[in-house]
Amino acid sequence: MTDRISIHGQWSSRLMFILATTGSAVGLGNIWKFPYIAGENGGGAFVLIYLVCIVLIGIPIMVCEILIGRRGRQSPVYSLRSLAREDGGSGIWGFIGFSGIFAGLLIISFYSVVAGWSLAYVMRTANGYFVDVTASGSRAIFSELISDPERLLAWHTIFMVMTTVVVARGVRSGLEQTVRILMPLLFLLLLLLVWYAYDTGEFKQGYNFLFAFDFSSLTPGGVVIAMGHAFFTLSLGIGAVMMYGSYLPSEIPIARTALAIAVIDTLVALLAGLAIFPIVFASNLTPGEGPGLLFQTLPIAFGQMPGGTFYGVLFFILLVLAAWTSSISMIEPAVAWLVENRQITRLRSASLVGLFAWLLGIVTIMSFSSWSFQFTFGGKLKNSGMFDVLDILTSSIMLPIGGLAFAIFAGWVMSRESVRDELKGSDLGFSVWYLVVRYVTPIAVIIIFLEGLDFMERLGLF
Ligand code: TRP
Repeated sequence: MTDRISIHGQWSSRLMFILATTGSAVGLGNIWKFPYIAGENGGGAFVLIYLVCIVLIGIPIMVCEILIGRRGRQSPVYSLRSLAREDGGSGIWGFIGFSGIFAGLLIISFYSVVAGWSLAYVMRTANGYFVDVTASGSRAIFSELISDPERLLAWHTIFMVMTTVVVARGVRSGLEQTVRILMPLLFLLLLLLVWYAYDTGEFKQGYNFLFAFDFSSLTPGGVVIAMGHAFFTLSLGIGAVMMYGSYLPSEIPIARTALAIAVIDTLVALLAGLAIFPIVFASNLTPGEGPGLLFQTLPIAFGQMPGGTFYGVLFFILLVLAAWTSSISMIEPAVAWLVENRQITRLRSASLVGLFAWLLGIVTIMSFSSWSFQFTFGGKLKNSGMFDVLDILTSSIMLPIGGLAFAIFAGWVMSRESVRDELKGSDLGFSVWYLVVRYVTPIAVIIIFLEGLDFMERLGLF
């Protein structure tokens, strides 16, 4: 069973897999989403819960996804179905693959719109909009952008086309240079921004906001969001990493690889927080600014620092590239499934999926202007309507359910022998991981869920 190969091809090396999966993990989730949700949920305690979830839930599930993918060698729908049958389980497991495909489409529909903001910001920075900009000026520029549906549609369209083109050609081509050279550059640029924030911002206040664990500001809703973000930021819960795992050569050790990816991903998120919050406090913005946080704060820094226009343009270009290497993994399961199931070409399949996601994106675009509505969420008033609903539905509900299913699948449905055979590695390491995946991870996900159920009720989702 282990000598199956994928009809979609294989990574040329371990490095290629690490690059692709890190590229998928590091994206808007780290740089745009993490700071703003940490800001909305009171900082420190939220960050701590998020880190705990990465270790107890994220990393173990990432290992599950890679090993299921590599053993199944097909899209999640068929990998889950055939592995379940092989070990005496039910083919119904394939349906989890479908819900993942659906979640991926929902996610890309709003992700692409935010990537579109980043594209728009490349131009705005280049045109000198932000030179010596004030906090209120920066806020005005952002709200002007998101309330202009036609402009948003144009940028969203460009980004969806970029994503579809790469997926149509196969995720292996074109990815390598971006991730190998440009992502380290993004990392350096974040370091530069942190240094700038240290030099001129309210660094201590920003640092304390992120790392002083004040549990009084944490709500059950915040805990669910922190867990959901652990899934989101590592690209877990829809079968994206499973898909990438299905292209992984069989001799490569899985656990160490997953660990490395999670560490890099977490570092990037924390750096982004350290760059942003000192500027938030120095310019009298509030941490709970919402989805515009990144776009309202960093331009202030670029507007003041020497060479700011250059660094700003570079930063937003790299942000777009980071989003690009992430978005392709969101639709890869859908595209691979269509190719397997309908026997159509990748080009066709990617075009269909891309078109569907593009249409869906219009919901998000409208939700910032004419379709916006208000609702309370976790005790806070939110006013961007469908955008927030889509985000919560996917990150806080669909991804944890998908991830829970993958953990149960590897821990209880597949036989211990199959799992052991796929993972290799040391006996001790295996035993610890197996115990965590069978008991700790599922129980943690379920407890956090139940705790947050009450607040989801208030949201009207249950
Ligand atoms: N991890 C990416 C980020 O942080 C987003 C992402 C890519 C994702 N692929 C995914 C999220 C699959 C959930 C599922 O930006």
